[in-house]
Amino acid sequence: MNEKQRHEQNQIKQSHASDQASDERNLERLKDKTSDDFIKYFEATYEPPNLRKAQKRGKQDIQYHDDFEIEEQFRDLGVGKKYLIRTYGCQMNEHDTEVMSGILEEMGYEATTDQKEADMILLNTCAIRENAENKVFGELGHLKSLKVENPDLIIGVCGCMSQEESVVNRILAKHHHVDLIFGTHNIHRLPQLVQNAYLSKERVVEVWSKEGDVIENLPKRRKGQIKAWVNIMYGCDKFCTYCIVPYTRGKERSRRPEDIIQEVRHLAAQGYKEVTFLGQNVNAYGKDLDIDFGLGDLMDEVRKIDIPRVRFTTSHPRDFDDRLIEVLGKGDNLMPHIHLPVQSGNSDVLKLMGRKYTREQYLELVDKIKEAIPHATFSTDIIVGFPNETEEQFEDTMTLYDEVGFEHAYTFIFSPRDGTPADKFKDEVTEDEKKQRLYRLNDKVNAYAKEAMKKYEGQTVKVLVEGESKNNPDVLAGYTEHSKLVNFTGPKSAIGDIVEVEITQAKTWSLDGVMVEEAVEVK
Ligand code: 5AD
Ligand code: SF4
Repeated sequence: MNEKQRHEQNQIKQSHASDQASDERNLERLKDKTSDDFIKYFEATYEPPNLRKAQKRGKQDIQYHDDFEIEEQFRDLGVGKKYLIRTYGCQMNEHDTEVMSGILEEMGYEATTDQKEADMILLNTCAIRENAENKVFGELGHLKSLKVENPDLIIGVCGCMSQEESVVNRILAKHHHVDLIFGTHNIHRLPQLVQNAYLSKERVVEVWSKEGDVIENLPKRRKGQIKAWVNIMYGCDKFCTYCIVPYTRGKERSRRPEDIIQEVRHLAAQGYKEVTFLGQNVNAYGKDLDIDFGLGDLMDEVRKIDIPRVRFTTSHPRDFDDRLIEVLGKGDNLMPHIHLPVQSGNSDVLKLMGRKYTREQYLELVDKIKEAIPHATFSTDIIVGFPNETEEQFEDTMTLYDEVGFEHAYTFIFSPRDGTPADKFKDEVTEDEKKQRLYRLNDKVNAYAKEAMKKYEGQTVKVLVEGESKNNPDVLAGYTEHSKLVNFTGPKSAIGDIVEVEITQAKTWSLDGVMVEEAVEVK
């Protein structure tokens, strides 16, 4: 870290500390108050904690680098050595692992799945909920004996947890067998960091909170040859009050359209059949660019590329605009399944969450999408047990689920995250009540999933065949346009093709079927 970066980090730390002190004083006054008092307090005082600073750091700060190259001195560092990366959390992390694997393999490392033969183990971590962090600390505990057996083993921690000061301090104090800690903005520095870890007797820690840069042409070791992830933007400026992502992933930075299009063209030429655009809040794509070009425009461009399937995740309802809906309505290779996190069905809770839409606005958006894409299906993310969520407020989430008719949902109990505004909200709801709400919601989720699957019995659907089924090598598996898993009988030669499958039986989370035709013509 140079002088300038150190100075910036200190400044950010100091301003965080003063924001926190004033928040704490205000919240002290709110002890023993009702949910209405919280809303009043919230309206009077809420300001996204870091957004202003993120904006001040400014879009002029974003630099695009097209010249990534692994220096000669690092190219042989991994020859004869093996690496293993354990990935926790979201697709963004999965894709970061593909980039880190790409870098390590260009340094001569070979991948292994056996930790006993690994010379380097990296934990690519997730900070979204406490249990995600606990898993990593548990794994760090297990790795200790491996390090005793093999003192030359390099153990590294990267990903979202390493962006948290408290986590880094805990690792430094208690997990002396960790050699390397680096942040989400430091992935491109992996060659230097690995070399430092070999040379240095000290632990190597490099975590930048300054996030301005977008690094293009990083090598990638993609997991498969059929589906690929493509980052379209990094970071998040939404600052939902429960969420740690804007702190761990930094401010929103969009990749340039031409770089994205070029990557998709390249993937299509390599024979990939599906791309998923990735970002924490893809609907904000382009807002930080100097040109008037949003996600709708990007999807319209990618529609013209000869790649059979395009998806995107994750959406924020607030920024899901008419242009995007219009373009998705054109269909073609734009898949009709939409993941649209709602988080809660109650407008007061949504306000406290800082989501910036109401129940009614969410439902209006869903109606608009259904009108433009009549066969669209929806899935969502829901948090139950947000601080002081009442039984009635929870019931609103249950009725919203019915109104939309989601086909699937990821459901979570609120997990307080250090440094986020919601962490400081006083909470009267017991853990047991929260669990009961989660069970009730999950019963509903399962019932809807089953019903959605049932509809397909007797129908013929298009399936992108990904390979043999996990449980039975005589059965093939793939996904429909609406992201439903299908297990079916058919020739192995169909792997990598889009084929028609007749559904014979629906289960809760998958469909069984028989292939009816050779590969179908796509586009
Ligand atoms: N507690 C519980 N769930 C959370 N999520 C994000 N932050 C938290 C938290 N603090 C959920 C949201 C988000 C998904 C990726 O994780 O539902 O959409
Ligand atoms: Fe977190 Fe998503 Fe909200 Fe961003 S939009 S703060 S990533 S929940």
